Amino acid sequence: MTDSLYLISGATGKTGGGTVKLLLERGHRVRAMVRREDERSRALAAAGAEIAVADLHDLNGVSAAMRGVTGAYLCHPIAPSLIEATVNFAQAATDAGVRSVVDMSQISARRDAGSDAARQHWLSERLLDRTGLLTAHLRPTFFAEWLTTWWELRDGEGYLRLPFGEGRHAPIAAADQSHVIAALLTDPEPHDRAVYTLHGPVELDHHEIAAAMAATLGFPVHYEPISVDEFAAAMTARGLSPHLVQHLSHVAVDYRNGVFAGTNDNVERVGHRVPQSVGEFVTAHKDRFDLSGPNFVPAESC
Ligand SMILES: NC(=O)c1ccc[n+]([C@@H]2O[C@H](COP(=O)([O-])OP(=O)(O)OC[C@H]3O[C@@H](n4cnc5c(N)ncnc54)[C@H](OP(=O)(O)O)[C@@H]3O)[C@@H](O)[C@H]2O)c1
Repeated sequence: MTDSLYLISGATGKTGGGTVKLLLERGHRVRAMVRREDERSRALAAAGAEIAVADLHDLNGVSAAMRGVTGAYLCHPIAPSLIEATVNFAQAATDAGVRSVVDMSQISARRDAGSDAARQHWLSERLLDRTGLLTAHLRPTFFAEWLTTWWELRDGEGYLRLPFGEGRHAPIAAADQSHVIAALLTDPEPHDRAVYTLHGPVELDHHEIAAAMAATLGFPVHYEPISVDEFAAAMTARGLSPHLVQHLSHVAVDYRNGVFAGTNDNVERVGHRVPQSVGEFVTAHKDRFDLSGPNFVPAESC
């Protein structure tokens, strides 16, 4: 056990949860920031994490969670007030004498992004870089987990109904990103002010993604391209927030324009981990493909 203490926000989420687990396995002290005590926080505590109940929009709560912390992971969902959360996080970290912050951003983050959330991610990166903290920013392409969220199972065949045209990306699993986050938290100096795009190992279009999924699942999987408007209408009908609908509609256009494309060796070089292929991800999450995902766009919405 080292003296260092790492604060992980989004600890009940995909990248944060994996990072808590990894750091604990490696003998580090971890404080998991959660929004409420529930069975997920109790599982984190049982694994050995300290628990801090705080909301990123509550400065006093975040400040209490930062006490004694060496390095902190900032993870905010696609939801309003990312910039306010970043300001709270930066101020609380600075006040507490925290050394470094690892910031979850995204590949579409840029000053002139059409997505409000993507532009706010870019601003949050710049804001953190104006502090005295050591900072590193992660800009993943679409997570491999997307393939479970928008998945439809119909008559024994799988469908991905998405507005991505013939664009390409290399899906990156959250578990692989956790290796990068843990590496940056425990050795921040060489990465100060770095911006790392994160990709899986193989860039594919969605026809090729569907084929890779079919090969693993053992039944046909089809990619059915839909329009951005149809996707937006389906998201709204399913109760997704206007902020998320605005974001995903704009990044769908980004995706078609190649913003999410590419691959690199950042996961291996920084995280010392070979990232999972689509086939390996599907194998590791096979049960998630037994049912339609929570936000799938059903054919009857055509
Ligand atoms: N999904 C993608 O394809 C993709 C691609 C690139 C970048 N990203 C970035 O990834 C980030 C999301 O990361 P993730 O997928 O690991 O997270 P996630 O699984 O979506 O989980 C979000 C976490 O944040 C917590 N949370 C939500 N609101 C909060 C608040 N106000 N205060 C404190 N905690 C709060 C949630 O707690 P509860 O569980 O209690 O709600 C949960 O632990 C976003 O910033 C997004 O831009 C995602």
